[in-house]
Amino acid sequence: MEQTPYYKYDLSLLDRTLQAVKEAVADSSNFHVHYAVKANSNPVILDRICKAGLGVDCVSGAEVEASLQAGFKADSIAFAGVGKTDREINLALDADIFCFNVESVEELQVIQSLAAKKNKTARIAFRVNPNVDAHTNAKITTGLAENKFGINMELLDGAIDMALGMSNIELLGIHFHIGSQITQMEPFSQLCAKASAINAKYLECGIRFSILDMGGGLGIDYTDPTGNPIPDFKAYFDVFRRELKTVPGQQVHFELGRSIVAQCGSLITQVTYVKKGTVKEFAIVDAGFNDLIRPAFYGAHHAIRNISNTDGAKRKYDVVGPICESSDVFDKDILLTETHRGDYLEILSAGAYGEVMASQYNMRSLPKSYFEE
Ligand code: LLP
Repeated sequence: MEQTPYYKYDLSLLDRTLQAVKEAVADSSNFHVHYAVKANSNPVILDRICKAGLGVDCVSGAEVEASLQAGFKADSIAFAGVGKTDREINLALDADIFCFNVESVEELQVIQSLAAKKNKTARIAFRVNPNVDAHTNAKITTGLAENKFGINMELLDGAIDMALGMSNIELLGIHFHIGSQITQMEPFSQLCAKASAINAKYLECGIRFSILDMGGGLGIDYTDPTGNPIPDFKAYFDVFRRELKTVPGQQVHFELGRSIVAQCGSLITQVTYVKKGTVKEFAIVDAGFNDLIRPAFYGAHHAIRNISNTDGAKRKYDVVGPICESSDVFDKDILLTETHRGDYLEILSAGAYGEVMASQYNMRSLPKSYFEE
């Protein structure tokens, strides 16, 4: 075993997942899938995704640069985010990216002026806040009016007028993203209804968007990752095929992150002590929330198994890390095969928002990554 804790990626599962995505959109030539780099920007992962032919969705200048470096074509890069800096906008203009997903008129004005200085045209889509409840964790809900994201529906007419009157802006269309880890299709149906209504309204005024970007958000099965390693992409895209009303020529874009990479990654950690308390037994592991913050930060559940002892009797443990905060807990009262000092535990479904959110809190090292074919 390598020095723990570390991320282990199953590249064959990643390839099968990418294959499933491609098959699910094969019949819809106007569907384009961008991978949301924020979920995992490990260069080996980006390389696989690039080879599968997806585009990317970036949220920082550094993600744009990493994507270009990984071989993604500039014309497949969308760039979102409420706080793009001048440096990031300039970098994206220089690279000639496909589209800026613009979140405010204030940002639009800055993009116009920076593009004018370079004598370039910036292609943009407005991120619209559709006020759809994604019924997911409050920290990862984005499509409600109270969230900082996007342009409120009431302000959209004005923003579109402004964009159409700008010399260095080409308005491509509209963009949405309602939240993450969405496991029911209902919020996506609602999104289709809202997006179709907006599309129809502007078509009536003679404005024909060339793209409708539906964002990401498809969830995965954290409870049974081995039984359900590949999300039901077909069911997801079917919702849009069925319910999003487009006119010929309109292109539909998606920005999937978690559903593509979550299940191919695990965090491997070693048990330092098994500590018997009065009411609890603790498996104290050498990974902490600096390595995988999701349980501590979102109350997220990741399945855990003892890979050193796979078929012994089961006992109840709290699996906790070494960080000096009581939130450094991976799970409470879970059943593991009998666990001893030195055993290795696998924390599953950690390929998305795991390694990318790691920190060096407590002066701990960043986790390394290893790959299996
Ligand atoms: N597009 C935009 C504009 C986004 O903000 C996001 C994610 C995505 C696409 C990709 O969403 P996905 O398909 O991965 O759900 N750190 C949190 C998740 C934050 C998601 C942020 N935005 C977590 O660990 O659950």
